[in-house]
Amino acid sequence: MTKLWGGRFQKTPAQWVDEFNASISFDQKLVEEDIEGSLAHVAMLKETKILTEEEAGQIKKGLETLKQKALNGQLSFSVQYEDIHLNIEKLLIDEIGPVGGKLHTGRSRNDQVATDMHLYLRKQLQVIIEQIQSLQHALITRADENVETIIPGYTHLQRAQPISFAHHLLAYFWMLERDKERFQESLKRVNISPLGSAALAGTTFPIDRFYTAEKLGFDSIYPNSLDAVSDRDFIVEFLSNSSLLMVHLSRFCEELILWCSQEFQFIEMDDAYSTGSSIMPQKKNPDMAELIRGKSGRVFGNLVSLLTVLKGLPLAYNKDLQEDKEGMFDTVETIQGCLEIMTGMVKTFVVKKENMEKSVQQDFSNATELADYLAKKGLPFRKAHEVVGKLVYQCIERGIYLNDLSFEDYKLAHHLFDKDVYEVINPYTAVNKRNSEGGTGFSAVQKQLQLAKSKVTN
Ligand code: ARG
Repeated sequence: MTKLWGGRFQKTPAQWVDEFNASISFDQKLVEEDIEGSLAHVAMLKETKILTEEEAGQIKKGLETLKQKALNGQLSFSVQYEDIHLNIEKLLIDEIGPVGGKLHTGRSRNDQVATDMHLYLRKQLQVIIEQIQSLQHALITRADENVETIIPGYTHLQRAQPISFAHHLLAYFWMLERDKERFQESLKRVNISPLGSAALAGTTFPIDRFYTAEKLGFDSIYPNSLDAVSDRDFIVEFLSNSSLLMVHLSRFCEELILWCSQEFQFIEMDDAYSTGSSIMPQKKNPDMAELIRGKSGRVFGNLVSLLTVLKGLPLAYNKDLQEDKEGMFDTVETIQGCLEIMTGMVKTFVVKKENMEKSVQQDFSNATELADYLAKKGLPFRKAHEVVGKLVYQCIERGIYLNDLSFEDYKLAHHLFDKDVYEVINPYTAVNKRNSEGGTGFSAVQKQLQLAKSKVTN
């Protein structure tokens, strides 16, 4: 089979060289974008009179037929034609005859592939942004139901202070809000047209880059043709934003996994997001959450691998750049899958309020309340800390908690203690008193919830 670029060659490559060189096995994902880009290009070739109306009309019709066939899954591609661009060109020529060979006038695969990638990522980013928003909605709903549900807050994974469960969930809402902003903001750099930069240096044909940019919905064009064909920053940025998103999802999953363990029993994962064991009949494993946590690895890997591909490349296009695709496709699929599963898990886990509340009755996470109590009565905080620390030690020795101490024990520890001390160490009171801006007090959380709601459009 002759190559579309075979003119200057005497021999054809061995089959395995063709296979090594080809990207069609994965870049066929770009088929719609490739045809869309070609339709804009041919419209411009007509507009600028580089092609006649008739030629352009035939090409347009041929491309539309291919588009329809692509949608119906009727196109078959060949490794012989290397990539999606040459495969489409070959199929076009088969469809409409030699005039199809005029489509490539004034462009190169180098600007073509870059254009396809920009179009593809723009489309996927819109899906991702919507998906993040759905997850945020789910978090808001669960937070709304749990403003007054108390759980232990941790530092160093040691019980620290009691908090509202809604407050904990909303922490993830804000991480996702930043992720969403980053993806939205990146659209600015994705939505730029490289088309018309040709191989690297522009073209001698009187093309109109603004025309194709507008037709394809790009906001602007790359001002430098060398940069246009070799820039993959927008993909690095996408992989980096995706990595950070995965950090957030993975941390959240880690907590869900802990919370549904026998040791915590704070939530029960819905059956739909759990699996059983082939040997241990009692098991209900949070596999989906574990997979999301695990899949963060491949997304980080994709980021590092593209950075590595790019770092030593001279301008302009180099074939190394073909290695930009699989990591990007894989990341798109991975984060879209993870976001969907995550949203389902958040919507359906059962909150075991009694267990959460029981756990804060049986710990020392109210110790700060006591120290603050004494400090408010004028004792220097450092001294108050010491008094309460000794009380905690005494409790541990006796196998009891702070609310089991008698009033005499308190008086003995410090004369500033009064009867109201028992109310102060009630975890519910403790949470509700932290109404500083952004704090876990119920009214502060309500205020935060309103702010969160204002960030997500319906
Ligand atoms: N398949 C190539 C890629 O994905 C398309 C561009 C090839 N250009 C070239 N001059 N070999 O990067």
